[in-house]
Amino acid sequence: MANNKLIVANWKMNKGLVQSQQFADEMKLYLEKHKVIEADIVLCPPFTSLDAVNKKITGTQIKLGAQNMYFETIGAYTGEISPGMLKSCGCEYVILGHSERRQYFNETNAVVNKKVLIALDEGLKPIVCIGENLQEHEDKLTESVIDEQITACLLHVSEEGIANVTIAYEPVWAIGTGKNATAHQAESVHNFLRKKIKKMYNEEVSKNIKIIYGGSVTPENAKELFTPQTINGGLIGGASLEAEKFIKIINASNIK
Ligand code: 13P
Repeated sequence: MANNKLIVANWKMNKGLVQSQQFADEMKLYLEKHKVIEADIVLCPPFTSLDAVNKKITGTQIKLGAQNMYFETIGAYTGEISPGMLKSCGCEYVILGHSERRQYFNETNAVVNKKVLIALDEGLKPIVCIGENLQEHEDKLTESVIDEQITACLLHVSEEGIANVTIAYEPVWAIGTGKNATAHQAESVHNFLRKKIKKMYNEEVSKNIKIIYGGSVTPENAKELFTPQTINGGLIGGASLEAEKFIKIINASNIK
């Protein structure tokens, strides 16, 4: 397994076309100056900026991802976006089951599972988000909640399929709150997830699967959060909106 950390920017519902292009330009300039950065970098702009950002980052080490998609491939689903449409804009990744989708759009584990299966069928790499809310955290239910989420979200995902899945552990209480999980807390959940993946698949899969952490990652706490080997990178919200901050986080991930 490459030791590069996977650093994913989730812009959520931020940035129009011009701002998105400006950000991509800033990233490109930085990469040109610094040559190869030892990290796998993914930008997930809103749908409306995918094509424009793709044009900017083609030929660089930056990859493109979407923040959501529908679980059908074509048809009368007004307002929805298919996996094929994402691929046609240059997406390699797609974030699925983000807690904001679960909270505001009633996405259940069953819906997330349908999306994961179709994304894999259509050749996209899903970044599957799971995590407990504050009440569950306080009630010490973290492990049972993520156990249930991961079992349901990965239902019928084959061993071949799981090789293209990334899991993002995003405790809901840490998202946008400025209260990140400690490296120790995240490490213990990631270890739990690996054991679970080992039971569902095998040791090889559990070692190779990328499990990234999200929730109030900043340039200040990134190095500490990315130090445990079991934490393969980060899913970054607020701090990914400014290129300078995002680049600092990428640099903090290069842990030798
Ligand atoms: P923040 O980094 O803003 O807490 O958001 C995390 C997140 O939800 C990334 O998907």
